[in-house]
Amino acid sequence: MNAFPNALVGLCLLALSAYSGSSFSAHQSAVRGTAGMVSSTSALGNEAAIEVMKSGGNAIDAAVTLGFALAVTYPEAGNIGGGGFAVVRLPSGEVVSLDHRERAPAAAYRDMFLDESGNADAKLSLNSHLASGVPGTVDGLLKLHERYGSKPLADLLAPAIEMAEQGIMIEPEQVARFNRLAGKPGQWVATVEKFSRGGEAFTGRERWKQPLLARTLREIAAEGRQGFYEGWVAESIAREMSRGGGLMSLDDLKRYESVWRDPVRTSYRGYDIWSMGPPSSGGILIAQILNMLEPFNLGAIGWGSARLTHLVVEAERRAYADRSVHLGDPDFWEVPTAKLMDVNYARERMKDFDPERATLSRELAAGQWADESEDTTHYSLIDKDGMMVAITTTLNSSFGSQLVIPGTGILMNNEMDDFSAQPGVPNQFGLLGAEANAIQPMKRMLSSMTPTLVTRDGAPFLITGSPGGSTIITTVLQVIMNVIDHGMSVAEAVGSPRFHHQWFPDAIQFGPRALSPDTLDLLQEKGHQLRPRSAIGDANSILIKDGAYWGVKDPREFGSALGYDR
Ligand code: DON
Repeated sequence: MNAFPNALVGLCLLALSAYSGSSFSAHQSAVRGTAGMVSSTSALGNEAAIEVMKSGGNAIDAAVTLGFALAVTYPEAGNIGGGGFAVVRLPSGEVVSLDHRERAPAAAYRDMFLDESGNADAKLSLNSHLASGVPGTVDGLLKLHERYGSKPLADLLAPAIEMAEQGIMIEPEQVARFNRLAGKPGQWVATVEKFSRGGEAFTGRERWKQPLLARTLREIAAEGRQGFYEGWVAESIAREMSRGGGLMSLDDLKRYESVWRDPVRTSYRGYDIWSMGPPSSGGILIAQILNMLEPFNLGAIGWGSARLTHLVVEAERRAYADRSVHLGDPDFWEVPTAKLMDVNYARERMKDFDPERATLSRELAAGQWADESEDTTHYSLIDKDGMMVAITTTLNSSFGSQLVIPGTGILMNNEMDDFSAQPGVPNQFGLLGAEANAIQPMKRMLSSMTPTLVTRDGAPFLITGSPGGSTIITTVLQVIMNVIDHGMSVAEAVGSPRFHHQWFPDAIQFGPRALSPDTLDLLQEKGHQLRPRSAIGDANSILIKDGAYWGVKDPREFGSALGYDR
């Protein structure tokens, strides 16, 4: 099996300046603003979001505008047919998080992705009508707006509607991706062709219009939640699902609700890290790994060295082993959050760490105790009052299941693949799972999405997050370590190459130029397997420093960072 069919293949990593040793002083290539900042894969969406802030809207208003704009401009992952997580710091300093992850339909069942011989069939969980969870993005963005927004919803959706109606110029990278899809069967291709050029390949020199998506967005602007979860849009989804052998019903859509959850909080070298708790594994794993690493002086060990890579990999290996057994939807599974985040537990897990030898994953189990192409996208925003917003959203694979609901322009997710279809059988990211993440009706599938805020003494410091499936967590980890431990500017922290280990497969995965040839030799001598791969992550981030906001667009994917001044 190819474990990474949808990875951010072919995205080129721009070489950035090497670590300079400067402490937070070099902000080269970061965009500066003092009144507001946004970083995402959509330059057009960012312009609309900054306009919202300039006209008195707050960071949530701007995030709603950007979230819907991403569904138009970045169909790879921006969506209304998918789901995500938001972590938000309010001007008062309170941090909240909203889980708008997809849910399994009520008719879903444990073995729904097994074929007649009892083997997991990835085609079903990735590219069929069964692949989609009940979408959460629309409910999520509307719920954020209802509680914290300040401008009328219709005004916030207007830019996305205009982009869909008037058409947009697509990025050259997207032209290639669209045309790659055109060679494959699937309704996404049919839709692209119908809406654009009557079947001819995209050239990137035409405006791409999406009139059906515009109509759906208008319905949401006029009717709010009902415009998506009831009425003709919901009926179109249910009709297509029943036609194509899916399980999602009108009732599933009507009953979908996003949930406010307690954010996960940990402290690291005097900083507070706030991230997403279950059903995302991101926050807990970040906390676990940082707890394991905190006793070591990472800066002194040295960025890019074999010693540091080995240490970080061993911490990652232990945390991902725990993920596979202990993490799942907290509404269905008792997640031992306090235990996993406990500093003493982390230190205990690292007791058998050997600085000279790799632990073998097959000899390492999850912790036990007596009582017991890929594509996603992340956007970061901050407004003049220090309201910080980190949202990671996804259809799971690039363009999700590639199913477009007729008459609506809605591209559906294939998030059901994030469940553990069968114990011991890896999903598309090579992740293993068991009972905690088995399929159950209305359950949320375990995620790695890790929208994260960092504060210091209650004040904003860093907003980050990333796509990348299982590598999301280690991407966020590396951005945090690069800034806090290695004193990098935010541009360097985000642009530097990355590595990753997830317990199984038992190998260090590393992006282009992440590890030098002699580092690789030393790691091999310690007993590590090595697996080179395409660039990891797309961590659109904002650092708050010296009274200004410093926005960075990760160079691995297009988009922009945009700010403005008071
Ligand atoms: O929730 C998750 O962990 C996955 N569905 C995320 C998928 C992803 O990041 C794909 N992107 N690169």
